Amino acid sequence: MTEANRGMPAAEDVVNTDLDYINAEAAEEFSELSGKELLIAGGAGFLGYYLVQAPLNWNRNHGGEAPIKVTVLDNFIRGVPAWLTALEANPNLRLIKHDITNPLPADLGDMEYLIHGASIASPTFYRKYPIETMDANVNGLRFMLEYAVAQKRKQKAVGGILFYSSSEIYGDPTPDNIPTPETYRGNVSCTGPRACYDESKRYGETLCVHFARQYELPIKVARPFNNYGPGLKITDRRVIPDFARDIFDGRDMVMLSDGAAQRTFCYVADAVVGYYKVLVKGRPGEAYNVGVETPEISVAELARRLADLSRELFGYTGQVVFKASADKDYLVDNPSRRCPIITKARTELGYDPKVTIDDGLRRSLLWYSGNREASDA
Ligand SMILES: NC(=O)c1ccc[n+]([C@@H]2O[C@H](COP(=O)([O-])OP(=O)(O)OC[C@H]3O[C@@H](n4cnc5c(N)ncnc54)[C@H](O)[C@@H]3O)[C@@H](O)[C@H]2O)c1
Repeated sequence: MTEANRGMPAAEDVVNTDLDYINAEAAEEFSELSGKELLIAGGAGFLGYYLVQAPLNWNRNHGGEAPIKVTVLDNFIRGVPAWLTALEANPNLRLIKHDITNPLPADLGDMEYLIHGASIASPTFYRKYPIETMDANVNGLRFMLEYAVAQKRKQKAVGGILFYSSSEIYGDPTPDNIPTPETYRGNVSCTGPRACYDESKRYGETLCVHFARQYELPIKVARPFNNYGPGLKITDRRVIPDFARDIFDGRDMVMLSDGAAQRTFCYVADAVVGYYKVLVKGRPGEAYNVGVETPEISVAELARRLADLSRELFGYTGQVVFKASADKDYLVDNPSRRCPIITKARTELGYDPKVTIDDGLRRSLLWYSGNREASDA
């Protein structure tokens, strides 16, 4: 620890504060889930970190109510992360190793709320495993929807199903479609290096719409816009963990583009509130943008803010340097701007993200300072 970071909050304080914030902002939704069986496919990943811990935190703070029972289904392809291993003894948590591209396990039991977030999400990794990415978002989703149909036939009520789509379904929007509403149809390549992701999310949404209509199932879709924060592994190869790795290794921050692409970055605690709202209150067959509208900043500006915060928090002395990526597809079809309109989630679901970019980045850096191990799990 340096002089600069003495007395600042520890990584676990950040997590505990965030979990309480998520529970408070989505109190109605967690009350609705009380006593229910919740399945989280892909729960060992970045978004799983808070998706799984938030209901367990709710149980801890609402001892008088029936607990939310959480089942995590994941192929644990990068191993079981330490935070999940630490929760293994929790009586309201069950971990099942399963590849979502197969039918759901026969002994799964009666799940009442289901979340499908089992997909490779990092561009570096989905370009490496395009077929696995498509299979998880299409065949994997299909198995989950078939499960819900079978449950309905058995008179077992399914209260909500949430499919994780992506802001990538909009591709590279034309300037007049930024900020982007849910009604924008997209500008997407069906054969480029990102198509395995974008097109399987698009087809996944089509599956959701038709299963919702044909079988009258409460299937909803979230389109996340650039989430970041605790749980996003420092080895994930997305932009913020890449910069964090440089910062904590004490070297200059390496920018692999010209830094001009513009994004709005949504802190994960706000996003997870949004996802629980979509799951419980979203309209069947509908998609909701989940992100923040402002500020839209360039990746260069993001790097500058991270460098400034790290100087203040840890006495970081590095600067931003520009290099070309060794991956020739690193920037192919990378959208130049991405910014959502979130009026639909605001007005229909009461989604109201509050964490500012500087607070979110500060919290992320504090979390990375306690979670620097570059293990893949
Ligand atoms: N994080 C974001 O900003 C963002 C943006 C847009 C969309 N999404 C979507 O949200 C979901 C979760 O994203 P994340 O950032 O947590 O991703 P992540 O890569 O951190 O986690 C995904 C998890 O799914 C698991 N998984 C992958 N394929 C699987 C399979 N075939 N069977 C079982 N498990 C499998 C992985 O082991 C991992 O634990 C994904 O569907 C992703 O496409 C995320």
